[in-house]
Amino acid sequence: MNWRDYWNQDTPIYVSERHKVLHYQAIARDIAELIPSLEAQVLDYGCGEALCADRVAARCRRLYLCDAAPLVRERLRERFGEHPKVEVLAPDEAHALPDASLDLVIANSLLQYLSQDELRSLLRLARAKLKADGRLVLADVIPPGVSPMTDAKALLGFAWRGGFLSRAFLGLMRTAFSDYRKIRNALGLATYTEGEMIALLAAEGFAGERRSRNIGHNQARMTFIARPA
Ligand SMILES: C[S@@+](CC[C@H](N)C(=O)[O-])C[C@H]1O[C@@H](n2cnc3c(N)ncnc32)[C@H](O)[C@@H]1O
Repeated sequence: MNWRDYWNQDTPIYVSERHKVLHYQAIARDIAELIPSLEAQVLDYGCGEALCADRVAARCRRLYLCDAAPLVRERLRERFGEHPKVEVLAPDEAHALPDASLDLVIANSLLQYLSQDELRSLLRLARAKLKADGRLVLADVIPPGVSPMTDAKALLGFAWRGGFLSRAFLGLMRTAFSDYRKIRNALGLATYTEGEMIALLAAEGFAGERRSRNIGHNQARMTFIARPA
């Protein structure tokens, strides 16, 4: 199994429904803050189930939700199929969007599952589709040396604040024996230093910088904001 196949199924990543909802609420709030205007066209690439995408859509003119997993897209269409501002896309369909049409492209918690070739292809896609004053946001990027223990501590902090601590302990034990751990051990997760990420962005025509705060709950990870150079 590869990462793409892994995400095309129900996963034990969320320890409870409450965890999943609080996660997507926080991500939607953080994405909404990055939207430059109510007229903006936004692409959330590798969006997952995006449970609170309606909150993001309320802050822009058009929201494209793109995910490689057919199961995820099916669930997105069930939830947002009738939403007037939301369109669900497969990656090929994102490539078919008009050039220079987007104000914001965001990829949150995706890069760790991409090969460097896939990442370069995503950067080229964003470079082509963004307007000259558009922004690319790459968030939840894992720096080298961050251990699963650090991720676990961040989750427990989130769970404590969100009132699902006991489920988080159980969930962490379940994850330790899950396919996720097996695939993580076999394939690894892609990690980048701040300098590597800025250099990769520059090589694909972006001027990027690290944002002080990461999107989501795990501040051991990094968010980059880049503009077409
Ligand atoms: C960890 S989830 C992140 C979901 C969401 N962005 C969030 O922050 O919760 C990663 C998502 O990326 C999708 N994905 C993985 N590889 C992809 C690719 N090459 N292109 C588009 N989506 C991809 C998976 O199907 C999965 O839904």
